[in-house]
Amino acid sequence: TSVLAQAASRFAFTPIQAQTDGTVHVPDGYSWRVLAAWGDPLVSAADGYDVTQGGGSVEHSDQVFGENTDGMETFSYQGRQLIAINHEYVNPDLNLPAQNEGVAQTADEVIKLQNLQGVTVMEIAEGADGWAVVKDSPFNRRIHHRTQMRLAGPAAGHDLLKTEADPTGTVVLGTLNNCGSGKTPWGTYLTCEENFNGYFGATEALSADEKVIAGYRRYGVGDEGRYQYELFDARFDTAKNPNEPHRHGWVVEIDPTDPTSTPVKHTGLGRFKHENAEVVLAPDGRVVVYMGDDERGEFLYKFVSNGIYTPGGSTEGLLDDGTLYAARFEDDQTGEWVALTPETTGMEMAEILIFTRMAASAVGATTMDRPEWIATNPVAAEAYCCLTNNSRRGVKTDDGSIRTNAGGDVMAVNAPNPRETNEYGQIVRWRPEGDDHASDRFTWDLYVMAGNPTVHSDAYAGSANMNAGNLFNSPDGMAIDSTGLVWIQTDGDDDNEGDFAGMGNNQMLAGDPVTGEIVRFLTGPKGCEVTGLAWSADLRTMFVGIQHPGSGWPNGSPERSAVIAIKRDDNGLVG
Ligand code: FEO
Ligand code: CA
Ligand code: CA
Ligand code: CA
Repeated sequence: TSVLAQAASRFAFTPIQAQTDGTVHVPDGYSWRVLAAWGDPLVSAADGYDVTQGGGSVEHSDQVFGENTDGMETFSYQGRQLIAINHEYVNPDLNLPAQNEGVAQTADEVIKLQNLQGVTVMEIAEGADGWAVVKDSPFNRRIHHRTQMRLAGPAAGHDLLKTEADPTGTVVLGTLNNCGSGKTPWGTYLTCEENFNGYFGATEALSADEKVIAGYRRYGVGDEGRYQYELFDARFDTAKNPNEPHRHGWVVEIDPTDPTSTPVKHTGLGRFKHENAEVVLAPDGRVVVYMGDDERGEFLYKFVSNGIYTPGGSTEGLLDDGTLYAARFEDDQTGEWVALTPETTGMEMAEILIFTRMAASAVGATTMDRPEWIATNPVAAEAYCCLTNNSRRGVKTDDGSIRTNAGGDVMAVNAPNPRETNEYGQIVRWRPEGDDHASDRFTWDLYVMAGNPTVHSDAYAGSANMNAGNLFNSPDGMAIDSTGLVWIQTDGDDDNEGDFAGMGNNQMLAGDPVTGEIVRFLTGPKGCEVTGLAWSADLRTMFVGIQHPGSGWPNGSPERSAVIAIKRDDNGLVG
């Protein structure tokens, strides 16, 4: 058989066409149904979704499935199926009374917005009618912007983390802008704080010192929060609590099996706009965590623990005691993980962790085209990162100099980010030296450069594995299944015109890591982003998140972000 025929046989489905309509499509022989949508009650005591009350009451807003689902992971525990799911942000124009026009007017309304974000942990079960939430399960739990957490690791207790309410610098309320996710070998959930900066504002002139102000500038903490929290909750007012933003931007660990457990923010993993946290074990048992910082021209990171993971052993310190590295990519397709230490950065250790972006700039890390999800291949020693796009890559300012990131690092084109005004994105792949993810050397290539070969014939056509049948842009979510197939989710331009003609709505594709062939598996409703992917324990169901789904999906206006369950009609394996 030909190479192409072998590649085609790699996929257990017939690829589907691009779509521009308002619903979800999957291949023939597969079906989808909604598992949970924004406003669905997790307990009997909560009201159901109520279209007349912005989805539901303030009172029950911490007992319902939150809005705008993102990263998620499944857990098997005592024969039960648990799932933890992020809720990245809210749409106040949908959550608040219509006359508010999307602006909170009271402290209660702010509390409602805070409750609808964060994380849902819930038990799910498959019955005759498919998968459903187990209402009133003891595992059902909402974690939101007011849930108490603990700061752990080398920076915990540092002066920059202390506030009037928490003079210890170790107790913090809430996890913000929960984007991608991760899962540890010991069965805990990692939720990643991305655009935390947008929740803070200042009600008067700042009196913070220069170091704090420099941090605000690098991380984009501004004068007005996106939801005006600062007007009703002083914690978010940087004029009153200048250190509160430093207590966010971390990776947070949650034990889904213990609803009374306190989530832990791990300072050892650094502070930036975390996309996801991909955990993999080195051959010697050290814990390796790959992480991306999703902003134009920011960096890729890796943490390697000092300690060894042993099943059933203590996990204390495995996400805090270790070395944090930033990636440097060379033109010859090699690369190096550069340790962020006082010696390499000139910064003290706690400040390296709190102002990680500055530390990575200091060692000359490679500016990337917005690192989104990273996934490792369970059947090969390799990792992939979606570099979603970068409209400013290689673009000049009025004075003729090339644009920089917020730290002043120049965003000229470089080998893994080779296109100016990169509107399509690419996926970079690296293989660690010695097949050891703890190694500080790697080789790399571009798995795919997204593009449009039906419109362009230059670099914007994309790599050879792009074709009229699989057009997409802005790869974002990603997971590799147990067989080694690379599942790619998109969050890009879906106007289906011009440079994006033929791409249709945002979608999910599957890629063969060996041949590079990529085929389309799912299309979402127009306006949505497809993000978050996890499998049931028996690998016969795939859970996929549909974020900001656009008008009317899945059951009439207004839109409701939801997680769907996808199965083969013959109940075959899907991962
Ligand atoms: Fe929340 Fe970078 O996506
Ligand atoms: Ca994302
Ligand atoms: Ca994105
Ligand atoms: Ca998003």
